[in-house]
Amino acid sequence: MAKSKSVFVCQSCGAQSSRWTGRCVVCQTWESMVEEVGDIPVAKAKGGTAAGASGAPVRIDAVGQQHTERLSTGIGEVDRVLGGGMVPGGVVLLGGEPGIGKSTLLLQVLASVAAMGAEVLYVSGEESAEQIAARARRLGAAHPNISLLITADVGQALSAAKKHHPRVMVIDSVQTLRSESLVGYAGSVGQLREVTAALIDYAKRENVACMLVGHVTKDGTIAGPKVIEHLVDAVLAFEGERGHPLRTVRALKNRYGGTNELGVFEMGPMGLAPVDSPSRLMLQGRAKGQAGSVVAATCSGQRPVLAEVQALVTHPDAGSMRRVASGTDSQRVAMILAVLERKAGLVFGRADVFVNVVGGLYVDEPAADLAIALAVASSHLGRAVSDELVVFGELGLAGELRPSSRAEERVAEAHAMGFAEVVAPLHAGIKLAGCTHVGTLSQALDRALR
Ligand code: TYD
Ligand code: MG
Repeated sequence: MAKSKSVFVCQSCGAQSSRWTGRCVVCQTWESMVEEVGDIPVAKAKGGTAAGASGAPVRIDAVGQQHTERLSTGIGEVDRVLGGGMVPGGVVLLGGEPGIGKSTLLLQVLASVAAMGAEVLYVSGEESAEQIAARARRLGAAHPNISLLITADVGQALSAAKKHHPRVMVIDSVQTLRSESLVGYAGSVGQLREVTAALIDYAKRENVACMLVGHVTKDGTIAGPKVIEHLVDAVLAFEGERGHPLRTVRALKNRYGGTNELGVFEMGPMGLAPVDSPSRLMLQGRAKGQAGSVVAATCSGQRPVLAEVQALVTHPDAGSMRRVASGTDSQRVAMILAVLERKAGLVFGRADVFVNVVGGLYVDEPAADLAIALAVASSHLGRAVSDELVVFGELGLAGELRPSSRAEERVAEAHAMGFAEVVAPLHAGIKLAGCTHVGTLSQALDRALR
């Protein structure tokens, strides 16, 4: 099957070239071209018998509706992100940094499905059966319906699966499996594509829901799941900060549902526990009565989440004008500082300004603008805002405040979490109960920094 012809494949973006270059001509990454011998597989078109796949086009309105059967994982936060559950025959890629908790999550998913009576298969190329079983016992996830297979060969994984007929199969990870039909090492672009194509082919043929683990690093040095994202049905990103228990799962791509839902978990001694109230977790340990701290009503997917925004403005002798944002977008912060200077008369000069969204959730929606602006102003002026206050609203360059989506839900969440006052712009001229409406940044500053 393999032709022994050399190709050079960029391990960063998958671009191919017949000769070696020091830098990939497509993505400009240095030293990323690696020689691979054999055919680089091209993903085969799936569903050869489906409408429109026989070579002759069909009219779009003549194509029947396909009912998408859902297979609940029994874990609400995972089902929510997938748009209602897994789909038999569907292949989901779960990407995340090493150590973030991917194996833990998928073991818990398998245990949950197994407890509902289905046979499931966990294929690992990373850990020994003893290690996985020990973890499963500790998590209370050692259900007899879970079978383990330790292998680095995708062919072996597939023949075991064909005998076993699991409802759900987990591959941990795609980077550790390799196919005998190619020469490249496990995790190389060619192998990743070949292994994924073989798994997808099996999943569709046997109607098995598959979840693939893919490691990604922040700097993207490992030939990442990027090169297989277009092959799979859904791509989930598993994220969290080191030293923080908060973990989030969101869909970057989903052929079976939306991509705006967020699953929230807390990593603890018993693995990942779903978080019903992300606001409570985000506000844990909030410093009260301190200048520079403001609570923002943000939204993650459909869900309102309250988050503390902290700012620190310092005036060192030899000011270095450092502007540091974490947990939010630094460009957005720079814009807000400019508006504060021009429209509210605050002078930062060579001051250092630090902004941090506390709690481990990345918040980059414009509705957080007002909280960032107030936190910076509060720190700059040394005046605390009320502990009872929650704010939201987008800041325009003219200093005007613009309405945000889901205003009612944000206000309701603030009240549910025990906050007495909400300051926000008017939405479509409608007054919201328990909300003080402001039209400009100056009005908001007057109201919040009394
Ligand atoms: P793991 O699922 O192995 O990560 P990945 O598969 O993404 O590499 O999780 C690794 C980390 O999670 C490890 O550092 C310890 C932590 N952890 C807990 O805090 N509690 C637990 O119950 C488990 C199983 C892991
Ligand atoms: Mg793992």
